[in-house]
Amino acid sequence: MTDENIEELAPSDLGTLDYWERIYSDDLDNFKECGDVGEIWFGKSNTLKVVRWIHTQLKLNKNDKIIDIGCGNGMTLVELVKLGFEELLGIDYSEKAVDLAREILTENNTPHVELKVCDILDSKNFNLPVNFKLAHDKGTYDAISLNPENPASKRQKYIENVYRILLPSGYLVLTSCNWTKEEIEKHFQNYFDILHVLPADETFMFGGQTGNTVTQLVLQKKQ
Ligand SMILES: C[S@@+](CC[C@H](N)C(=O)[O-])C[C@H]1O[C@@H](n2cnc3c(N)ncnc32)[C@H](O)[C@@H]1O
Repeated sequence: MTDENIEELAPSDLGTLDYWERIYSDDLDNFKECGDVGEIWFGKSNTLKVVRWIHTQLKLNKNDKIIDIGCGNGMTLVELVKLGFEELLGIDYSEKAVDLAREILTENNTPHVELKVCDILDSKNFNLPVNFKLAHDKGTYDAISLNPENPASKRQKYIENVYRILLPSGYLVLTSCNWTKEEIEKHFQNYFDILHVLPADETFMFGGQTGNTVTQLVLQKKQ
């Protein structure tokens, strides 16, 4: 069910698979040529802030299963490995992203991190992995929200599928620059509670808009 009172974002290329395949194909060439990992979405400090918060505040076990949804170049997984997490899976619907992440993880001596091409919206064609204690998403819900075709139903599918793949009381750690805390709370309210709001400290460009404030939230699956 979608909520007609929610104003959707203006559609953008960033909501399409073609766009990401193109970006990551170029990034893969660059990485092979000069070791450049490509864009760190929303900046390194926001990436580290959220990863450190998970590490220090959530009291997870090192072998709790963590999934990075829309892992892109895999750099968040690299940071999670550095903090000792052992059961990590990165998924992305772009094959080129997964190829790039594999190269980067191997280069960082973390080849044991599992990677899979998987569309989080498509449980018919992909066997969605389950039983995660924590799902991490930096920019993927944003990208899905920018899809030119029926973004409201895609957002809803995302919420339902993330709910489904998490263990009871599991966490979703979400970084967005397109939605405010209040908007995310409204989107997710039937499935998740907001557990924590990380302090905002930087503004970014995403989807052609500048001056975005990053929203970083920890949500917990409702019983
Ligand atoms: C803004 S990028 C962020 C990438 C990565 N999380 C990071 O922080 O570098 C959005 C990512 O979401 C992925 N993505 C978009 N829609 C997806 C979907 N339905 N299923 C899986 N991945 C998706 C894109 O391929 C892209 O890698």
